[in-house]
Amino acid sequence: MAPVAVSTPAPADDIAELKAKLNAVDLNKVNLQLPPDNTLRRYQKAGIDLSGGYPYYPPKPDVVQDVTKIREDVRDGKAYVDPGTRADKEKKALFGAAKEVNDLTTHIGTEIVGLQLKDLTDQQRDELALLVAERHIVFFRDQDLSPQKQKEIGLYLGDGQIEIHPQAAQVPGVGGGVTLIWEAGRKDTQAKGRSFRIPYGGNSFGWHTDLVHEPYPPGYTHLHQDTVPKVGGDTLWASGYAAYDKLSPAFKKLIDGLNGLYRSAHSYKDETNPDAPPKPVIRAHPLVRTHPVTGWKSLWVNRSMTVGIEGFDQTEADLLLNYLHNIYERSTDIQLRWHWTPGTSAIWDNRSTIHTVSYDYSGERHGTRVSSLAEKPYYDPKSKSKAEDLQLQGWIDAPDFAGRY
Ligand SMILES: [Fe+2]
Repeated sequence: MAPVAVSTPAPADDIAELKAKLNAVDLNKVNLQLPPDNTLRRYQKAGIDLSGGYPYYPPKPDVVQDVTKIREDVRDGKAYVDPGTRADKEKKALFGAAKEVNDLTTHIGTEIVGLQLKDLTDQQRDELALLVAERHIVFFRDQDLSPQKQKEIGLYLGDGQIEIHPQAAQVPGVGGGVTLIWEAGRKDTQAKGRSFRIPYGGNSFGWHTDLVHEPYPPGYTHLHQDTVPKVGGDTLWASGYAAYDKLSPAFKKLIDGLNGLYRSAHSYKDETNPDAPPKPVIRAHPLVRTHPVTGWKSLWVNRSMTVGIEGFDQTEADLLLNYLHNIYERSTDIQLRWHWTPGTSAIWDNRSTIHTVSYDYSGERHGTRVSSLAEKPYYDPKSKSKAEDLQLQGWIDAPDFAGRY
C-alpha cells in the first residue's frame, strides 16, 4: 500500500497576539526591547507584563560613597542561617524524589533529573542547599519556572534576602531582584571592545565571582536560561575547595587569614573629588573563606575582581594573586563546562567557585538570575580543607611539588 502523506499542522503561534500587542507600543513613550520568543512564552505564562517597558532598569546610585553603604545593614544584626545547615546529610527527601542524580565531574557539578524546582518542599530545598554547598553547582534541565517562583526560591535560600542589583537590567513587575543575563539589555559599557578575538573586552578577564565587593556577597546563585543558542554560550565553573587543596601546606599557611581587596564591576563618581575619574567600590574579605555548611576552606579569589591583599605592596600582592588565579583557572580537573538547553536552571555556590561564560556565540542568550545573599565572609582558623576533612587520598598524601626536583 502506498504510504499515506500526513501533514503535521503548524503549531498555533501562542505568542502571536502578545507580540502584536507589544509591537504596537509607542517606543517614543516606552523603552521596550522585545526579548526572544521563548522568553516571551515564559513571561506570558507567568503573567509578566512588558507593555510598560522592558527591561526594567532600577534607579542607579550615583556616587561611590552611596554604593559602598548599600546592603551594609541587610541582616540588621541577625546572622544568616544557611538552609544547608538544617539538611539531612543523606538528602533522602531530595534524592528519593529524583529520577536520577548524576555527578558530572569528580570535584564539581551534579545534575538532578526528574524534579521541578518549583515543586520542592522546604525539606528538599534544605537538602538541595547542602548538595550545592558540597558539589558547588547543581543543574536541572527542562524546568517550568516563573521569575516569581525563582525569586521565592532565592529568598528561601538567602534566609529572606536577595540582591536587588542597582545596575543590572531586571524583570519588571516582580518587586526587583530578578536580573537579566542578556547582552542586548545591558546599558553599561562593560562589554565595550568585546570581540571574538578579545572575548571579554573592558576590564574583565572572564573568570569571576559575582558581586564580591558587597558586604554580604551572594551565596546560592540561581541562573535560569530560557533562551540559549544551539551551539556555544557554555558556562564554566571551577572549584574553590579543590583550588585551595592544590596548594602546598606552606603556601596554605601563607594565605590563610589574609584579607583580599575586592572591587565592584562598575565605577562611580567620588563625591569628595568630583573631578576624579570614576572609581569602583573596594572591600576587604578573606582570601580563604570557611564555608558555613561544609566547614571547608575555599580559595576566594578571582582575576577580574580581586585587586590586592591587605598589608601587601601591590607588586607582592600581584605575585601571589597571579599564582592563585593560575591554579584556579588552569586546572581543568577541577572545572566543569556546561552546555545549556532552553529551560535549564543552575544553582551554584558563589562562595566557593569562579565562573565564566564562553563567548563563542552570536545567537540570542537570555536568562534570569536571582542571587541569594549569604553570610559576611569569614575565615575560621580551626576549619579544614575538604581533602583534609575527608582524608582524600591523592591529595593529602601527595608529595611536595618541590620534592620533584
Ligand atoms: Fe557572573
